Amino acid sequence: MTEIAVLGTGRMGGAIARRLLATGHRVTAWNRTGDRAAATGAAVADSPAAAAARADVVITMLTDGPAVAEVLTAAAVPPETVVVQMSTIAPRETRAIAAGIPLFVDAPVAGSVDAVAAGTLTIFAAGAVERAGGVLQNLGEVRNVGEAGAGSAVKLMQNTAMLTALAGLRESLALAGALGIDRDLAAGLLAAGPLATAYRRAASTTADFPVALAVKDLRLTGFDGPVVSATLAALEAVPDQHADLAALVGPVR
Ligand SMILES: NC(=O)c1ccc[n+]([C@@H]2O[C@H](COP(=O)([O-])OP(=O)(O)OC[C@H]3O[C@@H](n4cnc5c(N)ncnc54)[C@H](OP(=O)(O)O)[C@@H]3O)[C@@H](O)[C@H]2O)c1
Repeated sequence: MTEIAVLGTGRMGGAIARRLLATGHRVTAWNRTGDRAAATGAAVADSPAAAAARADVVITMLTDGPAVAEVLTAAAVPPETVVVQMSTIAPRETRAIAAGIPLFVDAPVAGSVDAVAAGTLTIFAAGAVERAGGVLQNLGEVRNVGEAGAGSAVKLMQNTAMLTALAGLRESLALAGALGIDRDLAAGLLAAGPLATAYRRAASTTADFPVALAVKDLRLTGFDGPVVSATLAALEAVPDQHADLAALVGPVR
């Protein structure tokens, strides 16, 4: 049985801790604030270092690159322990963090809390993937995409594809309204058209990815490449930045 430490038990980290417990692993959780670690049912550590000390694999699932760097510095992970970094951060942030860690897996994910619970994430894994594959397979499909940094790059590409598709869905529904097309007719046609995947995401009632994190991800693309500025502007205009990403489109169900 693998000993796993999960550092950061927010929406995704909490779901990951619960899924790994449910699939028979021993899990120790640490979270910066509140009782979010205890709520997972895992053993609770009072510091990142205490969690990492007893682990074979340390998973980070935190908001952004600075949080990951800060927490991994505090964790002082032993060199023989595998670090699996699953937060969405920029490729250059990933490479900088990986440089100080001998066994590092860059493993951001596509899919929300519902996919974690079902073990159906897509994991864009890079680096020392063979050292963590057995754990990651409990969370979803592992796609080995190369060296550390490549996972983060692929994740930003995939997110940009989904976010621009959602923005396209929003535009299409706005046009339907302007042209007097019945809303249900428009929704039914769009659900079966070229934006079908975006439609399914907009209609999901079980995903939980706040607009603010989507904004963060689009801004990250600007570290290494172009920002899709029209989509970024659309996301920033959503009044409730804590609402699920579906709020970009509005109700489609
Ligand atoms: N939600 C999704 O559907 C989804 C899907 C794919 C990828 N992601 C990515 O997964 C990551 C986590 O997302 P989430 O939805 O789980 O976010 P979340 O619920 O807001 O959780 C964020 C976690 O990061 C911790 N944190 C933030 N700054 C920190 C710091 N400076 N030091 C220590 N801990 C810190 C928070 O601790 P506190 O509880 O103390 O605030 C919390 O545990 C993000 O990179 C996100 O882009 C999310």
